[in-house]
Amino acid sequence: MKEEVRKRLRAAGRPLFMTGSGISAESGVPTFRGEDGLWKGANPRDLATPGAFARDPWHVWQWYDWRRGLIAGVSPGRAHLAMAEFRGCSGAGVPVVTQNVDGLHQLAGSTDVLELHGSIWRLRCVRCGREAEDRVTGLTEVPLCACGGELRPGVVWFGESLPADVFSRSLALAAEADFVLVVGTSGVVQPAASLVSVARDGNAFIVEVNPEETPLKGLTDVTFHEAAGEIVPELLNGNAE
Ligand code: OAD
Repeated sequence: MKEEVRKRLRAAGRPLFMTGSGISAESGVPTFRGEDGLWKGANPRDLATPGAFARDPWHVWQWYDWRRGLIAGVSPGRAHLAMAEFRGCSGAGVPVVTQNVDGLHQLAGSTDVLELHGSIWRLRCVRCGREAEDRVTGLTEVPLCACGGELRPGVVWFGESLPADVFSRSLALAAEADFVLVVGTSGVVQPAASLVSVARDGNAFIVEVNPEETPLKGLTDVTFHEAAGEIVPELLNGNAE
């Protein structure tokens, strides 16, 4: 089956990679769900909603600052690197649609990364809307904009819309794709998960990599229940003989 997948990928004219937090797990970035997931001991409503930030911005920032510090100390994994290095039959790199905010795909060298849920490395002013990259960690108070407004993490919180330009291009890529590799997502958060259905409706060949079974099962052609760092380089770099 691996050979079949490699052949299809190499022949694909419009391949697409879709990723979730599982691809960063082997780098040491916790996933959200599951036994050791971030949502196991915390309520997303207290940490990842506009209401939580309005109520207690410092509480929210302490959590994001901890995550930023953790992510700042890790490196892209083998799966990130294999995706960045892969060239399709046209010789071009493959776009990556990710739910991750950690920036590890870019660090690995991927140049066309669509961040559905924003980036933990961007800050946005809740008053004037100004956005800027910021990598400072070890905060002691809520960071402020030049206008005096509070800065918030540039991520998408529950109840918020995805960045419209990023989502519409992701939809178009999913609809046009002839091969999709979905790695490390539980497939339960919408509208990100719906992109797999869109690709399915467009007749893409869909390969899933996840050690566990997910609700995407009925949409995929092949599922490898393996860790991303093991199987993704094998699929992307292996010989199609
Ligand atoms: P989840 O935590 O929901 O799912 C992570 C998935 O990765 C699980 O299905 C694991 O089985 C799988 N996994 C774990 N280790 C893996 C490995 N080494 N290789 C491959 N897969 C592995 O994370 P997401 O699906 O990314 O949203 O979560 C989606 C969204 O929910 C996040 O973007 C975040 C969260 O709430 C927001 O904050 C808006």
